Amino acid sequence: MTKAILSPSILTADYSNLSKTFRLLESSPAVGYIHFDVMDGNFVPNITFGGPLVRSLAKKTTLSFDVHLMVDYPEIYIEDFVTENTEYITVHAEATVHLDRVLRQIKSFGVKCGAALNPATPPEELDYVLDIVDQVLIMSVNPGYGGQSLIPSSLGKISDLSKLREERGLDFKIGIDGGVNRKNLTGVCHAGADIIVTGSAILDSKDPEAELAAFNELLKHA
Ligand code: DX5
Ligand code: ZN
Repeated sequence: MTKAILSPSILTADYSNLSKTFRLLESSPAVGYIHFDVMDGNFVPNITFGGPLVRSLAKKTTLSFDVHLMVDYPEIYIEDFVTENTEYITVHAEATVHLDRVLRQIKSFGVKCGAALNPATPPEELDYVLDIVDQVLIMSVNPGYGGQSLIPSSLGKISDLSKLREERGLDFKIGIDGGVNRKNLTGVCHAGADIIVTGSAILDSKDPEAELAAFNELLKHA
């Protein structure tokens, strides 16, 4: 099993000093992406930021962007988030009636496409797009807020998806998003997560540098 990589969410970061956050994240070998939680206040209760902020941050870091669109009608906004740094754009299966079309639209920009599933949505929802997705993002909290507790059934969902991927000989990545911390990180890796989103556990901790180092150590031995 390849080592999982971190995609820290800047959801709870200090937006007035993101360069400090970027330098911290760039310093860790465990970090592969910056996770942008885009929220529209409709699909999820909160509003965060849009394309202008993400575009302004492109080229300000060496890290790739992992953009998570928690928005209704994501097909309208895809191009807003295509930047030199954008590696993934993930949309929610629950947020569009044209999931196949949106995933292909993302790929048409040369960006990897992701499909996110809310806790109540079964992986079978993606049956007819698993062959085109590059990532399936399993929400381990109900989206809209950072700092929530991981919903335990998410781990079973990840291992089911991992088995399904093997049965079908596919190679999409499995992401997990929400409530990941030092205590449950090893379990998350053993369930089969490849890309691990974590926000408050690191950025809201007393010592983010030490917390990031602890995550890195745990991932090495997971
Ligand atoms: C939920 C967000 C959060 C965030 C991670 O809408 O997607 O899951 O990325 O937040 P933590 O790690 O604080 O749960
Ligand atoms: Zn997210």
